[in-house]
Amino acid sequence: MTINTDHYWMPFTSNRQFKARPRLLDRAAGMFYTSTDGRQILDGTAGLWCVNAGHANPHITAAIARQAGEMDFAPPFQMSHPKAFEAATDLASMMPEGLNRVFFCNSGSESVDTALKMALAFHKLRGDPMRTRLIGRERGYHGVGFGGIAVGGIAGNRKHFGPTLAGVDHLRHPLDLTRNAYSRGLPAYGAELADEFEQRLLALHDPATVAALIVEPVQGSAGVILPPQGYLEKLRAICDKYGILLIFDEVITGFGRLGTAFAADYFGIKPDIICCAKGLTNGSVPMGAVVAKQTIYDTFMQAAAADAIEFYHGYTYSGHPLACAAAIATLGVYRNEQLFEHAGKMAPHFEEAAHQLRELPFVRDIRNLGLICGIELEPLAGKPSARAYEVFNRCFWDKGVLVRTTGDIIALSPPLIIQPSQIDQLFSAIASVLKTLH
Ligand SMILES: Cc1ncc(COP(=O)(O)O)c(C=O)c1O
Repeated sequence: MTINTDHYWMPFTSNRQFKARPRLLDRAAGMFYTSTDGRQILDGTAGLWCVNAGHANPHITAAIARQAGEMDFAPPFQMSHPKAFEAATDLASMMPEGLNRVFFCNSGSESVDTALKMALAFHKLRGDPMRTRLIGRERGYHGVGFGGIAVGGIAGNRKHFGPTLAGVDHLRHPLDLTRNAYSRGLPAYGAELADEFEQRLLALHDPATVAALIVEPVQGSAGVILPPQGYLEKLRAICDKYGILLIFDEVITGFGRLGTAFAADYFGIKPDIICCAKGLTNGSVPMGAVVAKQTIYDTFMQAAAADAIEFYHGYTYSGHPLACAAAIATLGVYRNEQLFEHAGKMAPHFEEAAHQLRELPFVRDIRNLGLICGIELEPLAGKPSARAYEVFNRCFWDKGVLVRTTGDIIALSPPLIIQPSQIDQLFSAIASVLKTLH
């Protein structure tokens, strides 16, 4: 197949390297992609942390096709359509108790920017306009909007784009290989890093100026960084003590990745706002959502006149009919096929298979939770990322397995429908590539 690769400027991709030997997929079903050269590729990444129910689930594809024929678009401002309300109701019913007001957008990045604006406006509307600071974490990933890169902590995503938002600060991330390498599940050490939120950041800025803390319960894009035991509990307690909103960015942890609907359920911690996207429609139609506690919604409603717009925010495609149809069908599949429970059942085998790679060349850490795994490699001297990229490339071309890498970390997040034999296939492909690395 010859295609013209000149015109498409690819996102987060080494364009010249890719175009020299394109990796192209053109079909997908269940756990597998088919590449354009006709090979079956086991999906070790659920697309990009999103195809949790596996590819081309017939309930989801049929719902999208039906909706495309019934109604393509309805304006979302001062107008709507029934499936937007139905999708919001379904999503609210899957959320931790009390988080039940749903604002739709089109991506994880938009969900983060929406949540940050919601948090700032909330404090202003309830008469506390001094609360304008936002706190994120080093190595946090919250998408690519200006809000998201400001609270995010990945240097490469920030350095070319100026000062972004003012009034943002960051907690340290909790990855410490000297104490926590090869921990299975949550690391034992590091909860005290949460105390720095109070002792350093709030002491420095004055807690009365802080609007919200945003964290990924499990940091994904920067290479799978797990919260130490007791760490998230401490963050919740500090937020409560000072009236700061806690936002969980659950764009990758939402929809069963840890064996529960949300990481908030897994950890038993209730944030004030949850951002989600990706698995909301099984990756089939772009959609994101911000789900807020009812008290936050009520504050907006009470602060504005009865006929006024309460939140000056929204997107042309908020609650798009195709996305809503896809979300309703997807949430139904998760429920009816009990996929979160299945993910929970697969997690011990996944952990066991992952840790079998411990003694292989260049492996310096393996960390896992639910159906998430990070395998950190020793970088090649003077060429950061090159070693993991080679693993990724060779898994794709030689082993028929799709993995993802970030820096020198291999990050795995397969569809929740994965079976034990496919878990074995995934890790043995990576192991056989690692054994031949120089
Ligand atoms: C935690 C988190 N937040 C936000 C995003 C951004 O989502 P999107 O790429 O849909 O904008 C991602 C994407 O991977 C993510 O992992």
